[in-house]
Amino acid sequence: MKKKRILAIETSCDETSAAVIEDGKVILSNIVASQIKSHQRFGGVVPEIASRHHVEQITLIIEEAMTEAGIEYTELDAVAVTEGPGLVGALLIGVNAAKAIAFAHSLPLIAVNHIKGHIFANQLSDDMTFPLLSLVVSGGHTELIYMSSPDSFEIIGETRDDAAGEAYDKIGRVIGVPYPGGKHIDEMAHRGNDTYHFPRAMMTEDNYDFSFSGLKSSFINTVHNARQKGEELNTIDLAASFQAAVTDVLVDKTIRAAREKQVQQLVLAGGVAANKGLRQALTEAVTNEMPDVELLIPPLNLCGDNAAMIGAAAFVQLENEEFADYTLNGKPGLSV
Ligand code: KG4
Ligand code: ZN
Repeated sequence: MKKKRILAIETSCDETSAAVIEDGKVILSNIVASQIKSHQRFGGVVPEIASRHHVEQITLIIEEAMTEAGIEYTELDAVAVTEGPGLVGALLIGVNAAKAIAFAHSLPLIAVNHIKGHIFANQLSDDMTFPLLSLVVSGGHTELIYMSSPDSFEIIGETRDDAAGEAYDKIGRVIGVPYPGGKHIDEMAHRGNDTYHFPRAMMTEDNYDFSFSGLKSSFINTVHNARQKGEELNTIDLAASFQAAVTDVLVDKTIRAAREKQVQQLVLAGGVAANKGLRQALTEAVTNEMPDVELLIPPLNLCGDNAAMIGAAAFVQLENEEFADYTLNGKPGLSV
């Protein structure tokens, strides 16, 4: 059967990315231009700056993705783009680029949810089988999503306040690591011990929701109190203690939900899926507590934002002929 190729575009936050994906599985190209350096001095993503960089980069990145894939536009079967959630100005750059290419080459247009994209990053390195439970942990989201089939998404738990990645980045700022702090805290955590014993919020509650703002406040108060008293802080142990609290809650609730839902697979997704502590803790928990469940964790280069994952998710929609029209808009608050 003829292979189906999708040109995918992702511009929801601070990465401009384009990829060509074959049959939702094979990466022919995946170009990711990060803007992190431009945002770092502000301690977070500045939406205006993000939009401007996307405008400057988008055409070049798409051309690069097509060149690296070694195919012509006439050999594409569809153009896919992230429609949300994300920064509206940033989303619009990708959406408009995708519309222009779809129109110019008479290709179907596919609108993809960014969160679904993160989950489908796993399809690029493994085979997703259903029913599955996905723990999505990113800068903007922390959700447990049950999927009975490739096109069915049910949120069974989510954060009541900060997303896990957001909490990492906020506490990172307090101890002076560069934005985004998650990766740095993760590296520090491996050299320290859980000596501060921060609270594990909602751990014993009978639901699958999370809360990280209490943990974040507890961390910040510890730092401020020590600074006020002129006491020495062990930032390595602080990082290790924070990471232990985050992973304990995430792993505990995920395992409970996977057991209740009797899933075949547990699938980790999102930027925080790159976290070494979380990858290790989840692997150990699944091995010890539910050896019959298969755990999928994306390779590091597919955890953060990238267009390849958008192309993988879009393939399901291509098969279902679920297409968008030219009224497509960026949807900053889109849910799965
Ligand atoms: O999925 P992503 O690239 O963007 C969003 O869709 O939000 O996730 C970015 C988030 C940031 O908060 C970043 O600090 C976090 O993922 N992150 C990590 C690690 N690598 C990235 N958090 C903890 N440990 C890591 N190794
Ligand atoms: Zn993301």
